[in-house]
Amino acid sequence: ASSHGQGPFIAAIDQGTTSSRCIVFDRDGRIVSVDQKEHEQIFPKPGWVEHNATEIWENVKEVVAGAISKAGITAIDVKAIGITNQRETTLLWDRKTGEPVHNAIVWQDTRTDALCRELGRNVGQDRFRRETGLPLASYFAGPKIRWLLDNVEGLRERAEAGDILFGTMDSWVIWNLTGGVNGGVHVTDVTNASRTLLMNLHTLDWDEKILTSMDIPAAVLPRIRSSAEVYGHTAEGILAGVPVASALGDQQAALFGQTCYAEGEAKSTYGTGTFLLMNTGEKPVNSYNGLLTTVGYRIGDEKPVYALEGSIAVTGSLVQWMRDQMGLINSAAEIETLASSVEDNGGAYFVPAFSGLFAPYWRDDARGVIAGLTRYVTKAHIARAVLEATAWQTREIVDAMTKDSGVELTALKVDGGMTSNNLLMQTLSDALDAPVVRPMVAETTCLGAAYAAGLAVGFWPDTDALRANWRRAAEWTPEWTRTSATASTRTGSRPCSGPWAGSKTRS
Ligand code: G3P
Repeated sequence: ASSHGQGPFIAAIDQGTTSSRCIVFDRDGRIVSVDQKEHEQIFPKPGWVEHNATEIWENVKEVVAGAISKAGITAIDVKAIGITNQRETTLLWDRKTGEPVHNAIVWQDTRTDALCRELGRNVGQDRFRRETGLPLASYFAGPKIRWLLDNVEGLRERAEAGDILFGTMDSWVIWNLTGGVNGGVHVTDVTNASRTLLMNLHTLDWDEKILTSMDIPAAVLPRIRSSAEVYGHTAEGILAGVPVASALGDQQAALFGQTCYAEGEAKSTYGTGTFLLMNTGEKPVNSYNGLLTTVGYRIGDEKPVYALEGSIAVTGSLVQWMRDQMGLINSAAEIETLASSVEDNGGAYFVPAFSGLFAPYWRDDARGVIAGLTRYVTKAHIARAVLEATAWQTREIVDAMTKDSGVELTALKVDGGMTSNNLLMQTLSDALDAPVVRPMVAETTCLGAAYAAGLAVGFWPDTDALRANWRRAAEWTPEWTRTSATASTRTGSRPCSGPWAGSKTRS
């Protein structure tokens, strides 16, 4: 039995880039149990990244069973399941057999760079920006669908005949959860749909003109639903009969879990990549500084809430690369020890453009470099440059966000796996020249999906109840002006105020 009483509970599934996990939450938004499993990263060619969707679905079932049994509960104790996922990762599968037609093409994959250039020829990268809020870039799902239709033999005919379904990982998980070939529902939510380059941000529906321009048959597309409503019920397994009641892209889920419900509130999540989202209220705000306009969330029939986003493709995955491809560290945590063994970067800088450069540059053709090397540089300096790369990339996003919003950063709310790295958090605060704050529950992605599912089934009454759960766990303040470079974390539990929530307007 859990240490959090008898429940009831909400379960959240996070189908992420490197792993799938399931977390059970209680009514206070506290973690009751967690289970997690990594899946294979497939790199068939330079710039290509794939996942095996069948492996992912097996892992999802396993972690759900794991988390439920660790919590010592049954389906009766679980009021709803929420889904959150790596965004843009694209899968096509056969409606009748449930078999994927190809590995999923991961968001980091740059194979569609030439296609995107072709689509933007004579018109430019912003060809669909007014409708979608996005530049034409290999990051998004639409071009990946087109690539599959063009490159998997016979697929286009099958797709046009209505035999093929497209989905990002939310759709794949929900379809399978709700019965798969035996009546699974084929849906996606507005936040995930807003990352396809195919959804019109103003109508929240697929844009027919864009579908025609990209030559994608509407028959493959899921229905777009809100982020918080009951899509269906789990068909079988340990949670059979439980409503599946939310779906949000992982970054939007983190925004929701960080309780950034007011215009101007923002968060930055440090996972495989880093994504800074700012709530801009009920109207989509155009970016003139290389950011994305995206849907933040939509609760049932309420008005959608939009966000501005700065996306960084490579942050945590650079640490994984140091570990797996370079062998310079044995575990991700070791990067902090190694980087702390030197005082500075020794002149070395790392630009980890492994998937091109995302915001604010949108250059699919950029590739990674390490600059400033001399014979003096050791692997410890490189480790430091790796961490600084995350901090400096965040700084670029914050600068763009400040320009677009006209409001200066007063503090940054952070979450995600990398926030356990003290040196990184200190370096971030120094690079931003602003405080960095982390909440008690750093698993805000799952928490956000749980919150949305809980709202959909009336487990929580409203967002005010969720705000009351936010507790500050740690804060880092700028130190670069001082001589000592040691991190200072404070503990306490003040309620949050959003990073851009302050009224300190740019002069
Ligand atoms: O857009 C990609 C994003 O959703 C992936 O997030 O957590 O794997 O860095 P993450």
